[in-house]
Amino acid sequence: MSKPKVLVTRKWPASVEEKLKSLYDVTLNKDDRPLSTDELKQALRDYDAVCPAVCDALPAAVINVADKRCRILANFGVGFNHIDIEAAKQQGLAVTNTPGVLTESTADIAMTLLLMSARRGAEGDRLVRSKQWSGWCPTQMMSSDVTGATLGLIGFGRIAQAMARKAHHGFGMKILYFKPSPADQTIVDELKAIRCDNVEELLRQSDYVSLHCPGGAATYHLIDADMLKLMKPTAHLINTARGDVVDSKALIQALREKRIAGAGLDVYEGEPNVDEGFLALDNVSLLPHLGSATIATRTAMGEKVLANLAAFFAGRDLPDRVA
Ligand code: DGY
Repeated sequence: MSKPKVLVTRKWPASVEEKLKSLYDVTLNKDDRPLSTDELKQALRDYDAVCPAVCDALPAAVINVADKRCRILANFGVGFNHIDIEAAKQQGLAVTNTPGVLTESTADIAMTLLLMSARRGAEGDRLVRSKQWSGWCPTQMMSSDVTGATLGLIGFGRIAQAMARKAHHGFGMKILYFKPSPADQTIVDELKAIRCDNVEELLRQSDYVSLHCPGGAATYHLIDADMLKLMKPTAHLINTARGDVVDSKALIQALREKRIAGAGLDVYEGEPNVDEGFLALDNVSLLPHLGSATIATRTAMGEKVLANLAAFFAGRDLPDRVA
């Protein structure tokens, strides 16, 4: 029997690519060139399984392509707001993701951004590199304390909880959270975390606000101009979730007018394009969507995709089915 045809849209860690090669008739993307919309449509016509990543847009116009051979989109990544899940369901296309394995690395990046923003790390690096640093002085680049401050988490899933643990146990931070459904009482007790009744209340009380809600229509521009106005002028906003949870223009305005102290961003509206407005500001720290980018995590994500493909082609229940 011929092996299933599998397309991997971007370059993966070598060890998981090798495993794929041994199991399937696989096409890899050695040059790591992003595929165009037409190439993604063609992939759905030519392959039994397509393994996209968070950087591949798969709207209904792609998913509904005629004469499809593809039966599963095995996504390399936990977020799946780049895939039109309703269209996939209607087309009978299974969709899987890679939850659980990127929790700690993503929480580490959220904490990195929090520290960078609070302590002006990127700005200090630029000062030294530009040879403008004239030496230590008592009032130079003073910043905000992290230890003992209040961290507000919007969303309280795995990654938010991991960040809360690091912040509370490592930095003695007080933890606030907002989550529409009840949170696991064990973690709430462990961290003495306090639930806010709504996002507004959390924004008013937090020194640092970190976003951990999924992207998509329900959270689009959740943090807009009005919400930013509720934050303390000394507060920092951290986003490792999805770019469109924040209205970029409103955030740029708030940072420019110093209505909040700073922001740390790993994700962007319309990424990889980053609004030019951010680039001109010193009080925003910018990373290129590095949340899960450790060797171990990216390998584990690949292993998750392999497990989902194996289950699919063996006719078993999919471990990480989202559609
Ligand atoms: C994801 O998996 O959704 C992250 O954003 C990228 O690792």
